[in-house]
Amino acid sequence: MRYRVRNQKAWDRLVAQGSQFARTATDAECSNPLAALDGRGWLPHTVAGLRVLCLAAGGGWQSILYASAGAQVTVVDISPGMLELDNSEASRRNLNLRLIEGSMDDLSMLEDDSFDIVHQPVSTCYVPDILPVYREIGRVLRPGGTYLSQHKQPASLQITRMNSRKLYEFGIEYYHKGPLPPVQDEAYREEQAEEYLHRWEDLLGGLCRSGFVVEDVVEPVRADPTAPAGHYRHRGRFVAPFVRILARRREGIVAPTSQTSSLWIP
Ligand SMILES: C[S@@+](CC[C@H](N)C(=O)[O-])C[C@H]1O[C@@H](n2cnc3c(N)ncnc32)[C@H](O)[C@@H]1O
Repeated sequence: MRYRVRNQKAWDRLVAQGSQFARTATDAECSNPLAALDGRGWLPHTVAGLRVLCLAAGGGWQSILYASAGAQVTVVDISPGMLELDNSEASRRNLNLRLIEGSMDDLSMLEDDSFDIVHQPVSTCYVPDILPVYREIGRVLRPGGTYLSQHKQPASLQITRMNSRKLYEFGIEYYHKGPLPPVQDEAYREEQAEEYLHRWEDLLGGLCRSGFVVEDVVEPVRADPTAPAGHYRHRGRFVAPFVRILARRREGIVAPTSQTSSLWIP
């Protein structure tokens, strides 16, 4: 599948370039790991002994923090380069991690109901369809388990450039299908990655239809009133780039995932 191959290569390259997203947890963060992982108090006050899946979360940040807090950690990521960061950092700190190279939309290597927490940083933009990802998470998470995730907001992915009047242009349609075209303003895009826009009815509606209850939604602030035009924090004043979601797997029977509504309402 082309998106997997391209994004694996893109992320291996980002590791080699020392991307800010390929950053392992610091000693200071490890001294209070839950505060670093979760500024909102969404996690239980201890995760010691809990089974945590860090999904598409290679790079040695989330995994090292959860393991420092005493959790049993599995990482699934498509990039061997990102997983190697988890591996070397875990060895250095004498922590135990289970590392699996795989794609978030096929978790067939993992058992049903085998995690208490799934933590997924920004990454659903790298798959064409978010519903198989939710379906897989709903399967591997135990009933009542916590799913913490962050995603790129669709409006931010619609921006193609800042024009001469310093206004951000929406050059991509909301209903765009397939890989996103290259853009001039790459502030919230990763070099050479194949990215996809997911609409709100999939990001939130898809979650509900996959057997989750949404408990909270926040938009991490990337706005800075002093940032110069064109800077990613200037752009963040106009459109929030990310959304962070707290969801819980419903107890009982999980509703089958249905398709989203049709594109045009007559
Ligand atoms: C923004 S990084 C997240 C990791 C980082 N630790 C962080 O804190 O932001 C996105 C991750 O998604 C991974 N990824 C991309 N496509 C994937 C896929 N189909 N399945 C699993 N992981 C994928 C990349 O390899 C990368 O590690």
